[in-house]
Amino acid sequence: MQAQEASRLTQEVLIAEDEVQVRIAELGRAISNDYGGQDLLLVAILKGSVVFLADLMRAITIPHQIDFMAVTSYGVGARASSGVVRILMDLAANIEGRNVLIIEDIIDTGQTLHYITRILHERGPKSLRICTLLNKASRREVDIPVDYVGFDIPDSFVFGFGLDVDEFHRNLPYVAVLKPGASAQPMEE
Ligand code: IMP
Ligand code: MG
Repeated sequence: MQAQEASRLTQEVLIAEDEVQVRIAELGRAISNDYGGQDLLLVAILKGSVVFLADLMRAITIPHQIDFMAVTSYGVGARASSGVVRILMDLAANIEGRNVLIIEDIIDTGQTLHYITRILHERGPKSLRICTLLNKASRREVDIPVDYVGFDIPDSFVFGFGLDVDEFHRNLPYVAVLKPGASAQPMEE
């Protein structure tokens, strides 16, 4: 059972399902107000932001498009970013002259978004802003201007709501703190 495995890995539930949903509704309203009557392209960074994107886009009440980009994160078993970022899958859309809003699950050191924003800026978008569900400000190594933040969280490894432990448990509807030293086990039949 996934529930048993998730509770074995959980130190505490940091953000409950209803809290996440209330905050996403607020973000959706803010984004709808700020971009009302304008072009809007949401660029979700795979894979961690897919759950956030799916809920956020349904909380946005203005017409918009979505696109995806995948970059290397740290490998299975690692608990910190390597600082080395590489594009695994690029956007399908041409973003020149468009209002781009990057959708991210979490900003930790800031290295990933520093790299992504540098690359996307070179393509000449009309505007380029960032929306992240979670922000670990105390861990920042490079300064990143973040326009929309769901929750500022302390420096601990979290999972659920799109974020993985060793590629598992992205489907949990809440955000939990991982027990120090814990690793995910593949499910038994
Ligand atoms: P950064 O480059 O250090 O800002 O790391 C950003 C990426 O690292 C995020 O997009 C996540 O994929 C991953 N990450 C950072 N912190 C966590 C965490 O606490 N849990 C799961 N993934 C994380
Ligand atoms: Mg990510």
